[in-house]
Amino acid sequence: MNRERSPDPDGAWSKRGRCTARTCSVRIVLLGAPGSGKGTQGEILAVRLAVRHVASGELLRENVAARTELGQEVAGSLARGDLVPDDIVMGIVEEAVAAAAAAGGYILDGFPRTRAQAERAYASAAELGIAPDAAVYLALDDAVARQRLAARADGGRVDDANISVIDHRLEVFHANMQPILDFYASLGILVTVDAAKPVEAVTDEILAALPPART
Ligand code: AP5
Repeated sequence: MNRERSPDPDGAWSKRGRCTARTCSVRIVLLGAPGSGKGTQGEILAVRLAVRHVASGELLRENVAARTELGQEVAGSLARGDLVPDDIVMGIVEEAVAAAAAAGGYILDGFPRTRAQAERAYASAAELGIAPDAAVYLALDDAVARQRLAARADGGRVDDANISVIDHRLEVFHANMQPILDFYASLGILVTVDAAKPVEAVTDEILAALPPART
């Protein structure tokens, strides 16, 4: 991790669960390549910290599965591994994040994907007093990401089905991520963890790196 912080076993972020929706706010953004573990860590952290997991890709896939108007509009982008237009994704994500924040906090996974999304969402969230306290970057080599996604290929996700789409998702990721990392670094809230470690070790590294929760 790139921030020097000692794990505090009795602190608010402890995995013993002292931080709950009732006692403190938790607002975390998870960033990383396809396959870096955003969804995996998002689910675990949401349970540990007793807040909602909001995943932009999941919200979009639910719309595709339900054949909503929005789902039909974005289906092609998801299948190709292209980003969905900012205005479409921002609408559904901001609504879900606001609801989660009102209920105690959020672990936001898969958003932002562009610097424009990051800046616009941060400004709106800051106005509402629900801006993220930490942006956690799950750093992972492309080769490992490819292996993980290829291993998941029979899981039903259309964008895992072939290697050229996986490669395209990685290209899109690399074309956009550095300016997002620079943005969060400029705010002093960027934390980088080694996502190649086993799942439990990654979770521990994230929890140890988070700033003290606000009450
Ligand atoms: P999204 O759903 O966000 O997918 P993604 O970024 O491609 O990421 P994945 O879900 O594939 O990987 P992950 O990092 O969550 O890893 P996971 O935990 O699943 O986006 C899909 C699409 O939606 C985009 O391509 C785009 O079209 C659209 N979209 C979404 N958000 C958007 C936005 N903001 N703007 C525009 N468009 C947007 O793990 C992967 C595998 O690895 C699993 O099998 C897991 O079990 C395994 N694994 C996880 N961690 C570990 C570990 N530590 N060790 C070993 N295996 C592990």
